[in-house]
Amino acid sequence: MTTTHEISADCKACGSCVEICPNRILQKDAAGKVFFRPDRLWMCFRCGQCMSICPSRAVMIPGLSYETDFYPQPALDERAFDAFETLAANRRAGRSFQDRPVPRELLEKLVEVIALAPPSFPPVKTELTVVADPALMHRSLGLMIDLYDNLVKKMANPVARFFIRRQAGRETFITLNNHVIPLLKERLPDLKSGKEDTLTRRAPAMILFHSDRQSENYRTDIAIAMTYAILAAPALGLAGTIIDLIPPAVEKSPALRALFQIPAGSEVVGAVILGFPKRRFLRGIRRPLKSVTWL
Ligand SMILES: Cc1cc2nc3c(=O)[nH]c(=O)nc-3n(C[C@H](O)[C@H](O)[C@H](O)COP(=O)(O)O)c2cc1C
Repeated sequence: MTTTHEISADCKACGSCVEICPNRILQKDAAGKVFFRPDRLWMCFRCGQCMSICPSRAVMIPGLSYETDFYPQPALDERAFDAFETLAANRRAGRSFQDRPVPRELLEKLVEVIALAPPSFPPVKTELTVVADPALMHRSLGLMIDLYDNLVKKMANPVARFFIRRQAGRETFITLNNHVIPLLKERLPDLKSGKEDTLTRRAPAMILFHSDRQSENYRTDIAIAMTYAILAAPALGLAGTIIDLIPPAVEKSPALRALFQIPAGSEVVGAVILGFPKRRFLRGIRRPLKSVTWL
């Protein structure tokens, strides 16, 4: 691994790296020799495409190593689209799970696939907390119920409402008032009595997606990472469902943050519950896009 941008003597001057660099940092000189333009080096965000494309492993970027950071690009054949479409068509939101834990090997496979999601700017800022212990899931449910019970009570108090509105901002407050609170009021009695779990859905496992609040574009990165997770889950026999009510609960509850060991300064952006589905769907559903404009 080098500490500076370098082109080794193995370079065959094929020009692939020059063509692929998104910021035109590589160039050929008058003699056809490839070099890094010193005036553009600051634009290198270490996407690694130059190293991925070099047939002679001659391009070197600080912090990236051919040995440890790259793998042979898998070849795609004519079945690849069908395989992807099958995955996409298979994915459904699972809310009813078998009463058995998800083996760690499967969660590890899922984590590997999530790590393939593209970051807006390398290095990857997404951090995961993988909850594989059903007992921990159950304990967290109790804390979520307490938190939401408290929120519903506060929203009924005009002074507390005023402060919640000021803290949450207009848009979030409208969502809270129009959707979240009515839904919670309906669900809380059964949640509290243990009759029904409409929060974590008695899922045996969950992945929390979080990032340091100072990092760039992390919410979009996490949305994409969660998409990889829910698409890949069915291929492992699992159902994975994004649950929007979990991240704000973890955000607001110091007890939940401690339980899940969320680093201080990190925002929990997403939660995907996971488990073996109790039932198999017999049919998918077609949902036409709101519009498709061809130009
Ligand atoms: C961003 C996002 C947030 C979601 N949040 C929840 C949630 O809080 N609770 C839930 O039960 N399902 C949640 N879902 C699942 C959707 O409700 C579900 O995908 C949708 O109803 C379509 O059903 P299908 O996934 O089976 O096709 C969420 C899905 C997405 C993409």
